Amino acid sequence: MQFPRTFVIVCSALLLCSSLTYGQKASPPAPIAMTPTPTPAPAPAPEYVNLTYLLSVAGPFHTFLNYLESTKVIDTFQNQANNSEQGITIFIPKDSSFKGLKKPTLSNLSNDQLKSLVLFHALPKYYALADFSELSAKGPATTLAGGQYTLNFTDNSGTVRLDSGWSKTKVTSAVHSTDPVAIYQVDKVLLPEAIFGTDIPPVPAPAPAPDISPAADSRSADSKEGGSSSKSLPSSSSSCRIVELSLSVWSQLVLAVFGGLVLLF
Ligand SMILES: *[C@@H]1O[C@H](CO)[C@@H](O)[C@H](O)[C@H]1NC(C)=O
Ligand SMILES: *[C@@H]1O[C@H](CO)[C@@H](O)[C@H](O)[C@H]1NC(C)=O
Ligand SMILES: *[C@@H]1O[C@H](CO)[C@@H](O)[C@H](O)[C@H]1NC(C)=O
Ligand SMILES: *[C@@H]1O[C@H](CO)[C@@H](O)[C@H](O)[C@H]1NC(C)=O
Repeated sequence: MQFPRTFVIVCSALLLCSSLTYGQKASPPAPIAMTPTPTPAPAPAPEYVNLTYLLSVAGPFHTFLNYLESTKVIDTFQNQANNSEQGITIFIPKDSSFKGLKKPTLSNLSNDQLKSLVLFHALPKYYALADFSELSAKGPATTLAGGQYTLNFTDNSGTVRLDSGWSKTKVTSAVHSTDPVAIYQVDKVLLPEAIFGTDIPPVPAPAPAPDISPAADSRSADSKEGGSSSKSLPSSSSSCRIVELSLSVWSQLVLAVFGGLVLLF
């Protein structure tokens, strides 16, 4: 009479176990599957170049600096200058170049067009003067204004010429050239064909300038992370279910074996 008691104990233990696993199924999966946000390793701090300061003491570049500040493009430039991975190359006209502007004056541009024109004066990468022969072979280079705002370069035995399609000019001197920031003085204001190649003066058109503010980048990165963490939840709950299933199958098998043994005795 020893065996049936053991059997009853084992059976009730198994029943308890399986009811426990079924009870667990009802409770929502614990949110431990959240993917931890990978913290990027801090890059070694590059030497900080204060563009506002640099442009206010070099030059005179006051007109361009005023446009940079009124359009807030200075923040975009400084952010790009702070980015030691890519860096920035700025082509900057002297104050006298603005005085030399004839017909298509800047005063008739919309705010968006003016912003694009200022962004048009920079490339989103650091280029030393020696890099321009390679760059000129690659065809049109996209400026920070993006899209169709491209510049063509030619390097003629060290003389770097720029062609916007509407204005041709050349680099007359290097104001600053230390990775990641290059600033070259140019002879003329760069007038983008995308603005001046059409009607003069252009009617306010929908702004083709892309939003390249850092805030937009971080917003899209946030939403990406949200997507991946919500995706990881179903997979973890399905693996829980598999464990529960195999437990209940296993307990039923054991019950059947015990039942058979009892019948034999
Ligand atoms: C950069 O220089 C300008 C002009 O000298 C100054 O007003 C500003 O505070 C400086 N910015 C930083 C972050 O040092
Ligand atoms: C650039 O870096 C300087 C120094 O680290 C910082 O004070 C400034 O706010 C940064 N500017 C931008 C636009 O990222
Ligand atoms: C620029 O706009 C002003 C009015 O805002 C107008 O009087 C002037 O004729 C325009 N310039 C050209 C070149 O059309
Ligand atoms: C730039 O060069 C390309 C050919 O490489 C040419 O098709 C294009 O018209 C040029 N653009 C300007 C603005 O000169």
